[in-house]
Amino acid sequence: MKIVGICASPRRNQSTSFLLQKCLEEVRSNSSTLAKGIETEIIDLAGLDIGGCIACGKCKEGVQCSQDDDFQQLISRLGDPLIKGLVLATPVYMGSMSSQAKAFLDRSVVFRRNGFLFKNIVGAVLTVGGSRNGGQELTIQAVHAAMMIHDMIIVGDGHHFGGTGWSNHPDGYEGDEEGITAARLTGRRMAEVVSLMR
Ligand SMILES: Cc1cc2nc3c(=O)[nH]c(=O)nc-3n(C[C@H](O)[C@H](O)[C@H](O)COP(=O)(O)O)c2cc1C
Repeated sequence: MKIVGICASPRRNQSTSFLLQKCLEEVRSNSSTLAKGIETEIIDLAGLDIGGCIACGKCKEGVQCSQDDDFQQLISRLGDPLIKGLVLATPVYMGSMSSQAKAFLDRSVVFRRNGFLFKNIVGAVLTVGGSRNGGQELTIQAVHAAMMIHDMIIVGDGHHFGGTGWSNHPDGYEGDEEGITAARLTGRRMAEVVSLMR
């Protein structure tokens, strides 16, 4: 079984990536008790060329996409039946997800149109804003909507909606204990629910 983290920040190794790593670290630290044998993997969208969906309809005829860009490599990676969980981490841009996250989610319609291949995959969301209350929860909701459309099983952090980080924390994003705790709890919840699927 595998849990994949998608990092949808255009910046490599910054606050969004950091929070995703904390979340998946927690998944692995629970692996002896909750989710033995669960592997984690990160797909970093930074630097990948993934355009928006152009609605050509090619994916209605099979697991394929007409656009010759980096999404092609993700089609086979994400079609892996061992994937039982997907955590999407995105920065908050203008009160919602990054365009990288949106392009990724729109293009993921190929999985829905070919037998709902994400159905019953456990989904969770982490967001990072420059402000403490800059739209993190709204952004989580927006990603949840896409996950619902895939018929995924959505989890939060066990208390609230998922991971909500603050990159401009006075102690730096590495000092954002509240955000880190929410990301870790989201990882724990993910491990908990994925382990029920054994
Ligand atoms: C175009 C743009 C729009 C942004 N909009 C918001 C916003 O609405 N709310 C917020 O809290 N932060 C906003 N930010 C700040 C980012 O969410 C923040 O810097 C985040 O940490 C970026 O993630 P990164 O460290 O992975 O690059 C925005 C940043 C950019 C570049």
